[in-house]
Amino acid sequence: MASPKYQSPKGVHDVLPDDHLYFSFIKKVVRHRCREAGFRRISTPMFENLDVFVHSLGDTTDIVEKEMFTFESKSGKKLALRPEGTAGVVRAYLQHGMQQLPQPVELYYIEPFFRYNRPQKGRYRQFHQFGFEIIGESDPVIDAQVIYLSHKINQDLGIADRLSLQLNTIGSSEDRSRFKEDLINFYTGKERSLCEDCQKRLHRNPLRLLDCKEEDCQILASMAPKFANVMSEESKEHYGLVKEFLDELKVTYTENPYLVRGLDYYTHTVFEYWSQKDGAQNATGGGGRYDGLVELFGGTSTPAMGYAAGMERTIEHMKEAGIRPPNKDRIHVFVAQLGHIAKKRSLSLLNEMRERGINVVAAAGKASIKSQMKVADRLQAEYAMILGQIEVQEKTIILRDMDKGSQETLPMDGIVDVVAEKIGENRLDKRNMWEE
Ligand code: HAM
Repeated sequence: MASPKYQSPKGVHDVLPDDHLYFSFIKKVVRHRCREAGFRRISTPMFENLDVFVHSLGDTTDIVEKEMFTFESKSGKKLALRPEGTAGVVRAYLQHGMQQLPQPVELYYIEPFFRYNRPQKGRYRQFHQFGFEIIGESDPVIDAQVIYLSHKINQDLGIADRLSLQLNTIGSSEDRSRFKEDLINFYTGKERSLCEDCQKRLHRNPLRLLDCKEEDCQILASMAPKFANVMSEESKEHYGLVKEFLDELKVTYTENPYLVRGLDYYTHTVFEYWSQKDGAQNATGGGGRYDGLVELFGGTSTPAMGYAAGMERTIEHMKEAGIRPPNKDRIHVFVAQLGHIAKKRSLSLLNEMRERGINVVAAAGKASIKSQMKVADRLQAEYAMILGQIEVQEKTIILRDMDKGSQETLPMDGIVDVVAEKIGENRLDKRNMWEE
């Protein structure tokens, strides 16, 4: 078959109905767990002034250097599609005076993001994240709680066993300045053994040399000075407490001194979830503390901590683990009808059933009952209601159990109660109809 004339652009995808089952399920779990922990939902715009990202993520990071979709407004303002959520949330926190609210402020989001990277499995140009941020508290117990929440969500989604939690600290910015000097001294003279990217990064962002995936760079990284040697007592204490709280919460983690994350705003605790199978490739989520970001954006010094997970990568794990989210789209009833009066009568019946939370599809055209039943079959409806001229006259309806293939003629009066009971009231979605 010739491929259609128009295809989606490289690296972006349609979310088809079957995948929406996963998206809806993840959203539901995230909403539930976040609410339970006192978070409220925020949405920031899909694009921001370019500076918001350059300033926060760092102008030598891969995202800012290579991966942003940037454009100019008609008046020449430089804008960018958001590559991540933290910068926008911090911008909103300050713009809306959230420093005046009781601290810390806890916010979560479920949104699409955009990065102009080379598309491959698990890496797309438009992808979705759910994430949460706690702004306004420096206590290490917050770090442990954010990590616990991310772990709990992985458990709820059935993928916790497939992931390993990698944990590290990158200390305060003073610790890091000292460490960067040590690293530059160590690598100077060894530049030729580094990959091209690392050679460029050496003087601009030497920490990134530690988590390069190239084999030669990894060998050198294993011989490089250790951060623990330059870390202040305060930073060590913070990290020690995070681990103590995680132990208390029975969250297992792997300490990984090479984990530095790819964004400049981090301080102290950083963490990522790696696949047990593929390691660092395609981490499902990551986060950490960013105590300097609010101040960098012009606010008073305000500590913060957060996490975000990629939904596509999370779904990939769920599929590999054989997890099928509940299918709320299942069609409970297909209404087949014949003749004008039957069609008219079925209208109020449809509405009545939908009000009760029953998912109903009705035939609309003038097809024979036989071909309407074929449609009911293909839609995998649980029941079919058949309403012909005789039934309308006799005020009855035929109810067919599509799985069993059996059918009965029932009085029209009270039919909705009968169907609701057969489907099982608890499976109907009515209670949650308006819940966001
Ligand atoms: P990040 O590690 O850049 O962190 O992204 C988080 C997750 O988003 C990744 O682990 C991955 O699952 C997913 N992701 C990133 N890029 C892509 C892509 N091109 N295609 C598919 N999935 C992708 C952040 O974004 C931080 N804002 C997290 C955070 C929140 N830190 C503190 N608060």
